[in-house]
Amino acid sequence: MRELSAQQQNNKQQVAAAFSRAAATYDSVADFQRAVGARLFSLLPESISSEQIQQWLDLGCGTGYFCEHLQQLFASARGTGLDLAQGMLAFARTRCPTLSYICADAEQLPLQDNSQDLIFSSLALQWCTDFSKVLREAHRVLKPGGVLLFSSLADGSLIELRRSWQAVDNASHVNQFRTLQRYQDLTAASALQVLDLHCHTHTYHYAKVADLTHELKHLGADHVQEGRAPGLVSRQGLQRLLRAYEDYRQAQGLPATWQVVYGVLRKEG
Ligand SMILES: C[S@@+](CC[C@H](N)C(=O)[O-])C[C@H]1O[C@@H](n2cnc3c(N)ncnc32)[C@H](O)[C@@H]1O
Repeated sequence: MRELSAQQQNNKQQVAAAFSRAAATYDSVADFQRAVGARLFSLLPESISSEQIQQWLDLGCGTGYFCEHLQQLFASARGTGLDLAQGMLAFARTRCPTLSYICADAEQLPLQDNSQDLIFSSLALQWCTDFSKVLREAHRVLKPGGVLLFSSLADGSLIELRRSWQAVDNASHVNQFRTLQRYQDLTAASALQVLDLHCHTHTYHYAKVADLTHELKHLGADHVQEGRAPGLVSRQGLQRLLRAYEDYRQAQGLPATWQVVYGVLRKEG
């Protein structure tokens, strides 16, 4: 397996550190993440009976909120929560102490071939630079007939914030996510069978920009992957950002749009 470059390794460490720092505050601001996870659960193929699931994996489990749901749904199965961030895993352990936990990268799973009946992954895979590697790993560790159920962010997410920052400078302040087309191409090229792949728009409203940016910080989702944002923005720069965002204001407040890709993939067999 190809080694990660020093820069990729460093980037992953920074993502892990940002999420570990946010573990204690994450659940208090995770309404959007809850809604996405609930929608993802609703996509679980009806043909899968709970007796069929003996081993499940929550890939990028965060604080373990959905581990708890999976544990309830598949009461007789063994479950594993996997995450890059030790701080998140420590939190998940207190929530569901009887599960197994692994600190690892979704791009390099330390799991045996053909070992999982279900991989559930909500809003974690947008942090993986090589999505085809994730799909290869999912295919390897799934049992024949096993299912990968994932949600991930797509291009157009936080478009209002991104465009408002462009009124200030050319630096990267908001992550750029893969396009839906790219998700379609990569899943189609994988060894997994695509049962469903679609994008759904979720929009939330905020009274002021700071409410959104504080939320992103408390989620640990404020780490920018491509290019470094400047450490400090001047008072004038901030004023320009706020003015630019006001152009998007609606009756309910300032919108923040998320484009979420939902995928249901199956390993043949
Ligand atoms: C937005 S949180 C989602 C957590 C949980 N699935 C939920 O829906 O509440 C994203 C999680 O993905 C984890 N993560 C990011 N990159 C990862 C990677 N390469 N491998 C495994 N986990 C990763 C982060 O540490 C974080 O806990």
